[in-house]
Amino acid sequence: MFITFEGPDGSGKSTQCRLLAEHLQSLGHNVLLTREPGGTEISNQVRQILMDMKNKSMFPATEFLLFSSARAQLVREKIKPHLAGGGVVISDRYFDSSLAYQGYGHGLPLNSIRAVTALATDSLIPDLTLLLDIDAERGLRRRQSNGAEWNRLDDYTLAFHQRVRQGYMEMVKAEPARWRVLNADQPVDILQEEVREVVAAFMAGRSQKSDS
Ligand code: TMP
Repeated sequence: MFITFEGPDGSGKSTQCRLLAEHLQSLGHNVLLTREPGGTEISNQVRQILMDMKNKSMFPATEFLLFSSARAQLVREKIKPHLAGGGVVISDRYFDSSLAYQGYGHGLPLNSIRAVTALATDSLIPDLTLLLDIDAERGLRRRQSNGAEWNRLDDYTLAFHQRVRQGYMEMVKAEPARWRVLNADQPVDILQEEVREVVAAFMAGRSQKSDS
């Protein structure tokens, strides 16, 4: 089972992914927790280039292709082998982030993004995607105050981050079976309870289907 988390910056995804991974591990699942961009040595090198405040002159197309190259390595080196071994993969962001940020945020053509993404991911689509939704301004404020290093991607304008959030909403509407939307503007433990409920319900539905 492949679960991804998406959401605007400052939605608390990383904490929620970690807590869910610990929970599923405690239930006996073999869990790989990963993140994008990153998750392999090569992908982490690409991450450095993407985040570096020195690279302010990077074009959206360059940015998208770098995210895609990091993703291509992660899918082949880590995600597919883990799924093939029967494990659960949880990823903090995946290709939906490229549609939201480089597509809706920067205005790159969505069809081109989808075409490159099919190659990068070898057409691997998550089984379940949780959108941790938060107002863009509130998310950025949380991001600034949580002590994380401010990177080149955080530095885009508020209007950009608002388009990203709107983009996520469009994607949920277009593919409602894969997405679940949760309100990220609530305490960590309450949100985690909701995350666990959603995942448990999804897993129960799948095992019912495979039994019948
Ligand atoms: P994070 O590790 O704090 O989530 O930061 C990753 C940043 O990269 C975040 O601002 C979202 C951005 N991003 C994209 O713009 N496109 C992508 O495809 C991915 C995976 C992330």
